Amino acid sequence: MDLSTRYMGLALKNPIIASSSPLSETLDGIKLLEDSGAAAIVMFSLFEEHIRRENESFEELLDSGTDSFAESLNYFPPVDRTPKGPEQYLNLIRKAVEATDIPIIGSLNGVTNEGWIDYAEQIQDAGAHALELNIYFIPTDLELLPDQVEQRYFDILCAVKATVSIPVAIKLSPFFSAIGNMAKRLSEAGADGLVLFNRFYQPDIDLNLLQVDSHASLSTAEEIRLPLLWIAILYGRIKASLAASRGVQSADEIVKYLLAGADIVTVASVLLKHGPQYLQVLLDDLEQWLSARNYQSLEEVKGVMSRQNAVNPGAFERVNYIKVLESFS
Ligand SMILES: Cc1cc2nc3c(=O)[nH]c(=O)nc-3n(C[C@H](O)[C@H](O)[C@H](O)COP(=O)(O)O)c2cc1C
Repeated sequence: MDLSTRYMGLALKNPIIASSSPLSETLDGIKLLEDSGAAAIVMFSLFEEHIRRENESFEELLDSGTDSFAESLNYFPPVDRTPKGPEQYLNLIRKAVEATDIPIIGSLNGVTNEGWIDYAEQIQDAGAHALELNIYFIPTDLELLPDQVEQRYFDILCAVKATVSIPVAIKLSPFFSAIGNMAKRLSEAGADGLVLFNRFYQPDIDLNLLQVDSHASLSTAEEIRLPLLWIAILYGRIKASLAASRGVQSADEIVKYLLAGADIVTVASVLLKHGPQYLQVLLDDLEQWLSARNYQSLEEVKGVMSRQNAVNPGAFERVNYIKVLESFS
């Protein structure tokens, strides 16, 4: 069975990529992901906040920053969560690239286009094969206009593309009023890949402690539906590669994402739950699903159930929403 695929021009032996998570925080963790079958690894993120702290201007920036920026910082994990500053991060990438035979994808996580963008070039110089930008911006400032929020993504993308030659993916939020147009314009602006979607932090309230509960939760299979819808809609209509992110618990979700049109599928929660070795189970089950239906290669299934190729494209549109509600009993 030929499970190979291409993502942002990178040749991959299979479609399963280890998503950014604590599993890539050590060299041993990275090697285990490779040994377990990951076709590529997206490193845990280097946060804008870690970089700013390293540059000793973080506190100053908090004092002088705009409301929207300062408030958005409250939504990041505590700065001390990751023991690694930029130097350790770059060192780990160097070691990972040397110790493995699969693409290593650096991950930068931030919201402005100043200062931290320089690290894109340094991540490239450290040997990373590609870069993922997680632009985790929560527009809490009610005066911010949609155009201003969107422009932030383009400013960051263009600043990064001007400094690196490796492929650049954007891990995208689903919270745009015209997500399809945003995806199209990001692709036209040079994004080599779009990761659909970022799992935005959504805090809960602890009713006993009356505190905001901000623990990280793992995903469930139900969460594939929103990325699935948009991958199916975008397939074949934009140049950027499509990466599915969210909700994979078994090979079933991987197959669905591929049928919708994903070039690759990223996984984090399922590996945090069962261990990196679970990658082999996912790969075996994926292969079994394909062989049972006489597929010879992954390319044969990609996009078969996309909006463009679906027998009933209306299934992806409003008309189906009405049918679904009417059929509920
Ligand atoms: C504990 C934990 C840590 C994560 N850290 C990062 C990170 O540093 N950078 C990032 O872009 N995404 C991070 N993510 C998000 C994952 O990469 C992934 O996009 C998300 O969990 C959805 O995929 P999943 O359903 O397979 O878990 C993290 C997720 C978890 C659960």
